[in-house]
Amino acid sequence: MSTTNGRKLRSKEWWGQRNYESFTRRAWLRSEGFAADAFQGKPVIGICNSWSELNNCNAHLRTVAEAVKRGVWTAGGFPLEFPTISLGEVFMRPTTMLYRNLMAMDVEESIRANPIDGVVLLCGCDKTTPAQLMGAASADIPAIVVPGGPMLSGQWKDRELGSGTDGRKLFDLFRTGRLSEEEWSEIEGGISRSAGHCTVMGTASTMTSLAEALGMTLTGCANVPAPDSRRLTMAELSGRRAVDLVREDVRPSRIMTRQALENAITVDMAIGGSTNAVVHLLAIAGRLGIDLKLDEFDAISRRTPYIANVKPSGEYLMEDFYYAGGLPAVMREILPLLHGDVLTVTGKTMAENVSKAECCRPEVIRTQAEPLNKEGGTVILYGNLAPDGAVIKQTAASPHLLQHRGKAYVFETYEQMRAQIDSGDLPVTQDTVLVMKNCGPHGAPGFPEWGHIPMPKALLNRGISDVVRISDARMSGTSFGTVVLHVAPESGIGGPLAAVQNGDEIDLDVEGRRVELRIPAEELERRLKAFRRAPPHYDRGYGRLFLEHVTQANLGCDFDFLRKV
Ligand code: FES
Repeated sequence: MSTTNGRKLRSKEWWGQRNYESFTRRAWLRSEGFAADAFQGKPVIGICNSWSELNNCNAHLRTVAEAVKRGVWTAGGFPLEFPTISLGEVFMRPTTMLYRNLMAMDVEESIRANPIDGVVLLCGCDKTTPAQLMGAASADIPAIVVPGGPMLSGQWKDRELGSGTDGRKLFDLFRTGRLSEEEWSEIEGGISRSAGHCTVMGTASTMTSLAEALGMTLTGCANVPAPDSRRLTMAELSGRRAVDLVREDVRPSRIMTRQALENAITVDMAIGGSTNAVVHLLAIAGRLGIDLKLDEFDAISRRTPYIANVKPSGEYLMEDFYYAGGLPAVMREILPLLHGDVLTVTGKTMAENVSKAECCRPEVIRTQAEPLNKEGGTVILYGNLAPDGAVIKQTAASPHLLQHRGKAYVFETYEQMRAQIDSGDLPVTQDTVLVMKNCGPHGAPGFPEWGHIPMPKALLNRGISDVVRISDARMSGTSFGTVVLHVAPESGIGGPLAAVQNGDEIDLDVEGRRVELRIPAEELERRLKAFRRAPPHYDRGYGRLFLEHVTQANLGCDFDFLRKV
């Protein structure tokens, strides 16, 4: 059989013909030791693996791939695993975000160029999930996502540690002499105890959860911890399901609809997801030709309660979240806010998938009636500093700073900030607004996670743990604080942030969704007229392609030529 429900398998074009080319392809495949009837006429399921030893979060994905293969064989398919570039968040310079689009292109073209009828996407670390979703959206053959799952909770002495969230807090103790070298080394050995992605609701857990919210994973798949045997069970079941998706011709374009994207945004708000989700969902929408606007995130945020009590906004870790019921329990709780009738890769609707979900730890997953915050985690700001928008994670900010007026202290670059931030005589107070420029897609380059400007030592020594910080950078999803990010247009191309000078007053009004530079309009115009762009960071290669085609944060930072027209 080389058809499924009357449709011809795509792979038949490669090796199902009576010509020399087909003979060659069959012969070359058999050189891997496959029997003649192992693949002929069967749905070929590509396993797109972002495994890499340069990406610790995805280092277990070869084991996951073996479980997927079991499932594909069981269901009568033929699995073929292939690698793509992997993006290890903590290793890559200058930032993995520079390479997200490269990985998305790699995924798309690897699928398109090869004899694959369907694909299982193995992801985990921050950018690997959106890159695979973007690539699969553009290739548009049947696809299912299997995330690698979060690490075990970190542990030091009697304390549970959440990846970057607790790591950064403890580093502040270390840099101000309140932890010894020995203790710091013990923490280093205990904060990341297994394969898998970060242990808090950072970008990785957010994006894998949103893959599930989009309908692209089996129900309950996103949050199973990486070392849990149920991770492999999920992988096997996903392999089986991939074969059926080919037989049913269920493609990403049928799953990732506008309604599904609205579901993902709603879930993002309810789980207090990473600010990075805004950029990634905009990029995925662009690949699907869906005109998603930044404003829609704010409208959904205003009507969605934040209910997942997970760090960095809450108290618990991803293991607790999974044991509490995980994403299905969240989605069942907020079902009235979701489009329950959308199709998912399970073959059922979203509402059917989560109808039996239960929350068994109400302190971890709250109810709509008793949320942690009546609005969602992320909100969108506008104003003369951010005409095309900016974001702030209000649930991870200090309540007393959500309405704030202060004088700017400006770092022209990240390097300047690093050189000055620990200076004992930095002229800053608890009211200062720290501003950092040249951290956007062009300015940095690559839009790195530099937005969580470390607290100046001068303030930490006075017991001050948060001030308002504003930049055109992104921030790690594990970070926290009153941090305005993704200011667009960015300063590196002459956005208004470029005009801020030391001592200027800035207003932040999260309730009113405003961020304003309090100088006369003529003065702002005068300063921007005097702005001169720095020479580009790259004059050749992929970096040049990136600079010539990357869009701004409010459009998802995809390349202009990769959006669906
Ligand atoms: Fe990979 Fe955090 S570093 S998920």
